Amino acid sequence: KSGGKKGGGVGALTWFDPIRQWHTSSEKIDIFHLTYEQMTRNFHIRDDDVFLVTFPKSGTIWTQQIIISIYKLCGELEDGPNNKAQMPWLELKQNQFDHSTRASPRLFTCHLLPTTMPPGVTHKRVKVVYVRRNPKDNLVSSYNFVYADHSFEDFLDKYLEGNLESNFWFSSWFDHVRQWNSVGDQYDILYLTYEDMILDLKGAVVKICEFLGKTLSDADINKVVQKSTFETMKKDSKANYITFIPGFETTGEFMRKGRIGDWKNKLTVAQSERVDGVLKEKLGDMKLGRPQPW
Ligand code: A3P
Repeated sequence: KSGGKKGGGVGALTWFDPIRQWHTSSEKIDIFHLTYEQMTRNFHIRDDDVFLVTFPKSGTIWTQQIIISIYKLCGELEDGPNNKAQMPWLELKQNQFDHSTRASPRLFTCHLLPTTMPPGVTHKRVKVVYVRRNPKDNLVSSYNFVYADHSFEDFLDKYLEGNLESNFWFSSWFDHVRQWNSVGDQYDILYLTYEDMILDLKGAVVKICEFLGKTLSDADINKVVQKSTFETMKKDSKANYITFIPGFETTGEFMRKGRIGDWKNKLTVAQSERVDGVLKEKLGDMKLGRPQPW
């Protein structure tokens, strides 16, 4: 089936897209990522699996902390060594352990596109939480995390082209948001935004709890909120990832500023307008709900 991705939603994806997305950079994938085949071999979905899906730098480890805290307070998850072990990235080699021996409920994290999710995640069998972040803050966070020693203008070009030369990004923000927001009818999915989480953390925790079908007292909800504030996580070595990403070179920390609108300190008016233009071109036809990223 042919058809460009732009404006076409996920239905217009070709067979080539997932293959290209996974193999344009096979060398990098070899170092860091599992191939789709490795990832899905012997992977059998369970109805109580939970997947947190984000484009990198959208609040992944924050949402991990919220979900893990909810499951712990419900008594469904024991204390573990750290969040990476309790809610591992599905696609990363460093997490390559046998998921089939994990106790239920299994919590997963991933940055995958819908087309590269393991079979069985669709058709509302499992819960998917998708977190989106304003692309301007996303790109500034991305720049500081991995590219701070490069030219910002070059980085911006690559980000807007969806062509970041890193083993960390394997799609563009625009593709990720378009594709995930086009498949809502196939998944039991909760769409959240980083901005809504910042503006009302307790509201977000309640929403996540309800979506996961967990009942917590108000006092326990407050405990989850307390565990998930920027200040608490900055000090929480199980949650802040300062020490546990071996072999992954970064130019900054996960817990950097944790704010909305930091892009205003980095982007010029012209750069901001460039992002607006690409947003309009690539996602202007989509209704993404509040807050709109443009
Ligand atoms: P900044 O770089 O803008 O500070 P990810 O986990 O997807 O890599 O996203 C990292 C971003 O989420 C960073 O953004 C980080 O500061 C922010 N973040 C992590 N925990 C947070 C929290 N508890 N509250 C607010 N922002 C948080």
